[in-house]
Amino acid sequence: KFLELLKRNRLVAAHRGARSIAPENTLSSLQKSIGRCDFVEIDAGLSKDGVVVVMHDDTLQRTTDVAKMEIFKGRAPYRVCDFTYDELLKLDYGSWFEQNSAHKEPLLTLKIALEFIKKNGMFINVEIKDISNFFEDKIVVDAVIKEIEDAEMQESVLLSSFRHEYLKETKSILPDLPTAALFEGNFRDDLLEYLGDLQVEACNLDDGSVDEKRVKMLREAGFLVGVYTVNDPKRAEELFEMGVNYIFSDSLDRSLKRYAK
Ligand code: G3P
Ligand code: MG
Repeated sequence: KFLELLKRNRLVAAHRGARSIAPENTLSSLQKSIGRCDFVEIDAGLSKDGVVVVMHDDTLQRTTDVAKMEIFKGRAPYRVCDFTYDELLKLDYGSWFEQNSAHKEPLLTLKIALEFIKKNGMFINVEIKDISNFFEDKIVVDAVIKEIEDAEMQESVLLSSFRHEYLKETKSILPDLPTAALFEGNFRDDLLEYLGDLQVEACNLDDGSVDEKRVKMLREAGFLVGVYTVNDPKRAEELFEMGVNYIFSDSLDRSLKRYAK
């Protein structure tokens, strides 16, 4: 069970897959993460027609070849939510990664990602991006949970989001699915009470908001603590010494892995 593993501490998550050696959030980034991490983190959102796709940004500009494609001319700013699944399938998600690279990557859907993780006996943190401007919370959460249930992966997934309404919605549908509230630079005074109301198992903080006192407070209250994004082995060790359970890292080299005992 993923939750049992998370409690073990000193874990390293492959942030967006092994994104330092493969295009982020692609099947190849999942493949490359095998043996280099304790679990994988990916980002998820919805296509125009409601398919859960694995993508970090709101738009397709940075990680696809959309701007070069004649058929999509005039569709700037290329928001993911304005493209149907069939349209997203036409794009290449790999060649942006290296200059003059011919390495192509197909669209990664949550369905394919979960199948891959299951087949390889791995664990995954699915971060649902805030797309509440385009879809109601329930539509987003229902779509993500359907994929998790279809793949029978309830015990291998940690669901997280900066949009905490998604986490509440998740708990109302699947109370046993572990969730993590993400925060960025806004450590709140009433955090323990707030996390209790959300019924989350974990709290994922940005490295800048973390200190020993805060980690101790969270751990003593029974919450798991994750920190993003940590690429320096010294900092990883400091965080683990504070009691941080897991870190999200782009750099999955041996020097970092050494600390993940
Ligand atoms: O889930 C941790 C981390 O991925 C949050 O930041 O922007 O890389 O998705 P971001
Ligand atoms: Mg993320």
